Amino acid sequence: MEIIIASGNRGKISEYKNILEPLGFEVFSQKEKNADVEAEETADTFEGNAVLKAQAVYDIVHCCVLSDDSGLEVEALNNEPGLYSARYKGLKTEEERRNAILQGLEGKENRNARFVCCICFMDENGEPHLFKGIWKGVIAEKAEGTNGFGYDPIFISEDADGHTTASLPISFKETYSHRAKAVRMLTEYLKNR
Ligand code: IMP
Repeated sequence: MEIIIASGNRGKISEYKNILEPLGFEVFSQKEKNADVEAEETADTFEGNAVLKAQAVYDIVHCCVLSDDSGLEVEALNNEPGLYSARYKGLKTEEERRNAILQGLEGKENRNARFVCCICFMDENGEPHLFKGIWKGVIAEKAEGTNGFGYDPIFISEDADGHTTASLPISFKETYSHRAKAVRMLTEYLKNR
């Protein structure tokens, strides 16, 4: 069965290819299926945005589609950057966005944070199935490490013994992250469907 990944991000597409091909899916990017649309992320939840992304591609291809939406929520910043993680405060670089969080937390005791990943599998009938993974931790005092991307240098997960995610091997994220958790739920569902 064919499945189309609703994303233009090559890293994401190849990650999902590696997960879905062993389950018997023929995996394509939205570009390969001439469905290179970009949905406006206008929903006010990760779930809502994941569905919007999948729906935009489904409306063109009418077969199974997979999308995701993810971000970082910082308790003391009213759960920001949240849905706006990729474009927090309009800042251009990941480093600027990380620094904005570190500055926002200056003098604050509560550094609790969590990553959220919501995967939407839209089936051949256009029915969405949602899988949500949450990864709890705290924001570090300063950025550390070069592995991963985005907010990894300032996130210390509860499973990490005080180390930022970016200073741990990539395999650590593959086991514990918000995305890893959502993917495990997705694969369980697909195996039994
Ligand atoms: P999207 O899910 O592609 O819309 O982007 C979500 C944004 O959240 C990314 O650009 C990152 O800034 C942030 N983010 C999501 N997952 C992670 C992660 O695993 N590590 C670090 N940052 C992340």
